[in-house]
Amino acid sequence: MDFYNERTKDLQQGLIRAMFDKAAPLTGVISMGIGEPDMPTPAPVCQAGKEALDKGITHYTPNAGLVALRQAIAEQSSVKNVGYHPTEEIIVTNGGMGALSLLMAVILNPQDEVIIQDPQWLNYVAQVTYYGGVPVRVPTSGQQHFVMQPAEIEKRITPRTKAILINSPNNPTGFVVPQSVLEQIAEIAKKHDLLVITDEVYNTLLYSGEPYKSIAELPGMKERTVVINSFSKAYAMTGWRIGYAAGPASIIKRMTICQENFNSCANAPGQYAAIYALRHPELSEELRGVFADRRRVLLDGLRRIKGFSFEEPDGAFYVFPSIAAFGMSDLAFCERLLEEQRVVCIPGSAFGACGAGHIRMAYTVNEDLLRQALERIEKFCSSLG
Ligand SMILES: Cc1ncc(COP(=O)(O)O)c(C=O)c1O
Repeated sequence: MDFYNERTKDLQQGLIRAMFDKAAPLTGVISMGIGEPDMPTPAPVCQAGKEALDKGITHYTPNAGLVALRQAIAEQSSVKNVGYHPTEEIIVTNGGMGALSLLMAVILNPQDEVIIQDPQWLNYVAQVTYYGGVPVRVPTSGQQHFVMQPAEIEKRITPRTKAILINSPNNPTGFVVPQSVLEQIAEIAKKHDLLVITDEVYNTLLYSGEPYKSIAELPGMKERTVVINSFSKAYAMTGWRIGYAAGPASIIKRMTICQENFNSCANAPGQYAAIYALRHPELSEELRGVFADRRRVLLDGLRRIKGFSFEEPDGAFYVFPSIAAFGMSDLAFCERLLEEQRVVCIPGSAFGACGAGHIRMAYTVNEDLLRQALERIEKFCSSLG
């Protein structure tokens, strides 16, 4: 008897997991493969969660999340300039991923197309496919910082196109979509009556000094944009599973009904911790400071090793250099680097065909480990001759 839904059979484990599986039996491995902050959640945020538990906050919350948290998101998060109604236009979810999957469940009919960058974090592709949609990948190149070019997006629009998905700062590249490109994407979305999904989970991790601007802030975009965000990367809160979506009331309402039926609500004490976090942006700025120092160490170190080629990414905690000069595939490079020097990096082709010839390096290890990893990488690269 085959108990399985056909669509789950198409879900693949992916190359990231495969690299972790290869690393698992080895000792002394330094992992630059992990896409989450390694530091603990700031102590006062944990304290806020503990206090909630001690007060008996261990029950369901409203399906869309605590009103106080939605208010804090409307007033204090990075979408405050867009002006969202806290109880009609915001939903609190199980991480950013929870928001994305509810959104896909709500918007996609069979064969609906969603425009997605290549290379790109692949969970989007999995979710769109699972809900019956078709991911339409837009090829990008390193010369353009792997940013989807508006003309390339427009070429791929069909009567079935439902949404354009952007992720800036980007996983896996760390690059930010320039304002002029956001403006052109906004025009395309308006012209073709499309939804824009903007995943902004890395938007506190910007190193240029420029403030983050969401595409939702552009004229005429609030009504056709869903912003996805989360506390995971900004406050080292991946395990708390608190994220949110902000967008048109009708979409948020349907997502809330889905959440009621699928998983009820996000965890209650975590929502209290998130309120505290939003009221203390300095905690997130401290994390950014740590990542900024590590970024410098990694970029300077990579520059000293002959063969890597890259431009400095503006955000997140990833660098996505080309390894083409070493004359081997990104997969072979990562496998041999792991076997010979015990450092995990992720092959760029894990994120789509356009990622081939690159590797994703996450600076989610402390500076000491980062320096050790760089030494090992240097040894590996010089052994390649
Ligand atoms: C681009 C991007 N969006 C969303 C997420 C989801 O994060 P979470 O569900 O922990 O909020 C991740 C996690 O790696 C990510 O890289």
